[in-house]
Amino acid sequence: MEDSNFSERFECRKDLHQYWYSQKTIDFLVSECQHNPEWKVGFLSTPSVFFSLTNPITMQNAVCFEYDPKFDQKDGRFVLYDFNHPENIPKAYHGSFDLLVIDPPYITREVWLKYAEAITMLLKKDAKLIISTLDDNAEMIKELTGCKKRVFRPYISTLIYQFAFYTNYESDGWGRENEEIPKVDAEAEEKRVLKILGLDFD
Ligand SMILES: C[S@@+](CC[C@H](N)C(=O)[O-])C[C@H]1O[C@@H](n2cnc3c(N)ncnc32)[C@H](O)[C@@H]1O
Repeated sequence: MEDSNFSERFECRKDLHQYWYSQKTIDFLVSECQHNPEWKVGFLSTPSVFFSLTNPITMQNAVCFEYDPKFDQKDGRFVLYDFNHPENIPKAYHGSFDLLVIDPPYITREVWLKYAEAITMLLKKDAKLIISTLDDNAEMIKELTGCKKRVFRPYISTLIYQFAFYTNYESDGWGRENEEIPKVDAEAEEKRVLKILGLDFD
């Protein structure tokens, strides 16, 4: 919605487990969200994508569900959302979204159960989901949301864990690797580990 980079505009609040996708990852998500400008898109704990939309029609219909009040731009498209209380989501939004984009502050099953409640409330029948969480959460995410892990991964420079995207639909973009993610040189990595173990006899 503004020209400057999201992470330059909004610092991460560690107490709220905020970390922002890289701008290229945001741009990819924006293009998925704007694939059909008629879609009504809800952003649950993903403010960087909401604030980076470029299509005026998508923007007009989009809603930012967030706990951090700094994202309330007083334009009627912000809902103060605490994942612990999905029952507080206003009824006006129930069953109204064509696509939801979700990145919770925690990765546990307890928390995902709460997000799953919100998803059930908000999504239209047969609508789309984009989720990011740990690589290792694949089975739980499949069980709770029906989403599958995709080739395209989020890039978040400040995180040491490997995160993945999960969706309940396919597109060309989801099948491609994210070029930003550093490629591991298997041979160099093996040498490095052997050196640490004192087994490099070259
Ligand atoms: C891991 S970050 C995801 C941000 C996303 N990667 C992005 O680039 O927009 C977690 C998000 O959850 C929000 N959050 C923290 N506590 C929350 C709560 N109780 N309910 C809902 N959202 C919360 C944070 O403010 C933050 O935006």
